[in-house]
Amino acid sequence: MPLMTELPAHAALAEHHKTVQHLHMRELFAADPQRFARHSLRLGDILFDYSKNRITNETMGLLFDLARQAGVEARRDAMFAGAKINRTEDRAVLHVALRNRSNRPIVVDGRDVMPEVNKVLNQMRIFCGRIHSGQWKGYTGKRITDVVNIGIGGSDLGPQMASLALAHYAVPGITPHFVSNVDGTHMVETLKRLSAETTLFIIASKTFTTLETMANAHAARDWFLAQAGDEAGVAKHFVALSTNAKAVAAFGIDTANMFAFWDWVGGRYSLWSAIGLTIALTVGFDHFEAMLEGAFLADEHFRTTPLERNIPIIMGLLGLWYNNYFGAQTQAILPYDQYLTRFAAYFQQGDMESNGKSVTTDGRAVDYSTGPVIWGEPGTNGQHAFYQLIHQGTRLIPCDFLAAAQTQNPLGRHQDMLLSNFFAQTEALMKGKTADEARAELADSGLDEDRLALLSQAKAFSGNRPTNSFLYEKLDPKTLGTLIALYEHKIFSQGTIWDINSYDQMGVELGKVLAGTILTELSGVEPVAGHDSSTNGLINYYKELRGE
Ligand code: F6P
Repeated sequence: MPLMTELPAHAALAEHHKTVQHLHMRELFAADPQRFARHSLRLGDILFDYSKNRITNETMGLLFDLARQAGVEARRDAMFAGAKINRTEDRAVLHVALRNRSNRPIVVDGRDVMPEVNKVLNQMRIFCGRIHSGQWKGYTGKRITDVVNIGIGGSDLGPQMASLALAHYAVPGITPHFVSNVDGTHMVETLKRLSAETTLFIIASKTFTTLETMANAHAARDWFLAQAGDEAGVAKHFVALSTNAKAVAAFGIDTANMFAFWDWVGGRYSLWSAIGLTIALTVGFDHFEAMLEGAFLADEHFRTTPLERNIPIIMGLLGLWYNNYFGAQTQAILPYDQYLTRFAAYFQQGDMESNGKSVTTDGRAVDYSTGPVIWGEPGTNGQHAFYQLIHQGTRLIPCDFLAAAQTQNPLGRHQDMLLSNFFAQTEALMKGKTADEARAELADSGLDEDRLALLSQAKAFSGNRPTNSFLYEKLDPKTLGTLIALYEHKIFSQGTIWDINSYDQMGVELGKVLAGTILTELSGVEPVAGHDSSTNGLINYYKELRGE
């Protein structure tokens, strides 16, 4: 594959950028009463409005050319067909198989993966039924009331984000907890609230070797044994979600209590797999399945819709337009939906671990920016914290706004107030305010000319700050599934155009190896001397301070 910068559409976009970079969206809206209709799309009840972007019809045409020249369609088809597009790890990328509600065969290494996918889904359904009905009992005969998901990264963020997002659908009598950090505080503070008799530990780890998760799993086991007295109850209180049956058995979990998934499920795309068990236990298996349905809707849209009306492709191209032509370095995700509290954090891993790469799929260094920094918080909290910089700072920060029209929790006029903030912010970011407008507002203030001049400059907003808006009926499991899958395919589209492998994570793996070496050194009393002077100094001071 050529580098993105070698594609003819790149040169055309770079030229085009010179002519449109100073165009103001105010003018674009004024010139075209159809702009919203032209630049918005629907998928189910989700409205995707991308009209508040610094684009013209020509911009979009060139961006679609770029996607075509980069082979996005062929690579998308290869992913859905089970081709091993994760070349470095020689793996297929098939989170789409996990929500393939059509059951269309998807073949990897000569075998259709769908029967195995369905088998595990059925195992999850039966297990949820037993826990929810109280048929599954703890070692003293009591029903399970608390579920502790022990995992990290993709084995934590997805289950946690979705369980929070769907809290309205929670099954009564089951409380989820999430322990990820190897900081003992996380486990100790969680266990304080629990009783071994009624707690189920779900050890979620694709590899079943991750240091944090294994340390926490052993700590949970010790805590359990201290109360239960012997090993006999372990099988009733520990289950595993993993691809590594051998390591699960070695840990002491009966593989009958293991829910499997496969190497073609990336960690940060795994909430659709057995890793979703905590979600299904929290909200019920039917709701988990509705999430899969929602994702399937997005998959079919992505797979079959021409680029010009393909929402994740357009999301990807717009992000790339700011990233590679305007020099934007970050992308904010701003849900006006309290249930989506962890949505930005979830896609911080989803996007940054996927597209934080600097060599192409055939090992060449890229000469352009790849994945942006992803960040965000629910509105309106963000408005009172960091929006000032988005409005008047020197950086261009493209923002995604998301909101449900219907709240699950009606309370006075709260929902209208929430949504009026959403609409006002996207409008203000687009329009801004000129110094003349600011001055006109101050006309009756009685200020002298010096203060008028000063204040009208300070109160001026350049505007022209791009936003995408996602507005949907309500945050139900299906809509959540669709939204997540749209973002996943956005990441895929960008990764394909940048020609990077979005499905490995070599960088984080280096850190894991180094931490293992240092952990061994921390056991010794001798000062360490084998690192650079800073690392030696820090380790040795830590040894001195920690005491023994
Ligand atoms: O951070 C690296 C990583 O490998 C992630 O990709 C993954 O989600 C996380 O660690 C946890 O891995 P595992 O599920 O194998 O414990």
